[in-house]
Amino acid sequence: MNILVIGSGGREHAIVWKLAHNKNIKKIYCAPGNAGISELAEIIPIDVSDINGLKYFASSHNITLTVVGPEVPLSCGISDIFLESGLKIFGPCKDGALLESSKIFAKEFMSRHNIPTADFFIFDEEQKAIDYLRTASYPLVIKADGLAAGKGVIIADNYNEACIAVKNIMIEKIFGNAGDKILIEHFLTGEEASVLAFIDGDTILPMAGAQDHKRILDNDKGANTGGMGAYSPAPVVSKEIEKKINEKIFYPLLNGLKKDRIDYKGVIYAGVMIEKGEPSVLEFNVRFGDPETQVILPRLKSDLLEVMLAVVDNKLKEIQLEWYPSHALCVVIASGGYPEQYEKGKVITGLEKLSSEKDITVFHSGTSLKGDKIITSGGRVLGVTGIGETLKEAYNKAYEGVEKINFENMYFRRDIGHKALKNC
Ligand code: AMP
Ligand code: GLY
Repeated sequence: MNILVIGSGGREHAIVWKLAHNKNIKKIYCAPGNAGISELAEIIPIDVSDINGLKYFASSHNITLTVVGPEVPLSCGISDIFLESGLKIFGPCKDGALLESSKIFAKEFMSRHNIPTADFFIFDEEQKAIDYLRTASYPLVIKADGLAAGKGVIIADNYNEACIAVKNIMIEKIFGNAGDKILIEHFLTGEEASVLAFIDGDTILPMAGAQDHKRILDNDKGANTGGMGAYSPAPVVSKEIEKKINEKIFYPLLNGLKKDRIDYKGVIYAGVMIEKGEPSVLEFNVRFGDPETQVILPRLKSDLLEVMLAVVDNKLKEIQLEWYPSHALCVVIASGGYPEQYEKGKVITGLEKLSSEKDITVFHSGTSLKGDKIITSGGRVLGVTGIGETLKEAYNKAYEGVEKINFENMYFRRDIGHKALKNC
């Protein structure tokens, strides 16, 4: 069997790594991949948005299943196009991908199907938004409707900040067309968690919970990033909360998709805020999370390919997910300056010291090969995942791994998992 994985981040490295455990797979290709992925898969230099190029590759290389990592090709309709050509693909079609590519669509979907989320208002004219801001209470949250590479959310503490955000999004177009319309949302407090599930249109199968660390600085300070570290399981997602997430979010989501005639096959990721034992949805993503995948997949005992094939063949009801009881914690190493400007091309050393470590796995994100050297080529560069019987052990392993790696100006948070460790 040949498999094609689309993407080039730590998420895709973790997917390729987990798929590679399946002995029936003859070959894994990854487009465009990275230096770490190239140890497990053949790297194909096709961009994630070159859908025709990817389709041509899949049909000419006898690909049994294509797995889509990032949201951009999904929102461009890669699954619709592959399915029309009779190619199996893991990831929702364009209609389902709207849950991530339009925050307004997602909010209206949640209202229609009674899924708890913050109250919101939609604006397509700057003046009407500003009029609303005069009477609003603060803080509040302003979101560009479309995809903005995870940057389209601004939390405004007062009227002035909110006006600047609205102008930047709607007039200055800092997020391009993604800001043609905006959402203004009530600010929720509580603790965040990432809950992901496999879904095939008839069945939804939740995965183990995780917690991300979105801010760049320790103690959740500074700018939002794609995610600077994660751990799983997340104590905040207790058995009771898990039950509520299923009853109030995942089952209504599955029924809502059916009612709206959206045949959704892939992964759904709900970013939730939990306050006083009640979960509300902050956002949906239509793909695996990054870095969450780097802690969830190492804990998955079930065979990933079997689960993915069950999803695309509508047989998810026959699957029961099994998990290792271990804990996993991932520390992301970024280029100094990320999420703003950063330099690329720095030589990474120390990776070889970790290659035989059983409880430490390094997933690559922004890396590439230059001769026999591995160099940095992105903002988030590596994710170091430690595995242990306890969260503390996983934490120690991950940071033991981080300490062995070096490149000029490397940056990482030193407090991944601290909140949960304090409560252990
Ligand atoms: P999103 O991309 O929608 O997940 O938003 C990015 C981050 O902004 C979330 O992880 C939260 O930390 C924060 N956020 C988004 N919506 C809200 C909200 N309604 N209340 C409080 N924080 C929010
Ligand atoms: N870690 C957040 C995301 O994948 O969107």
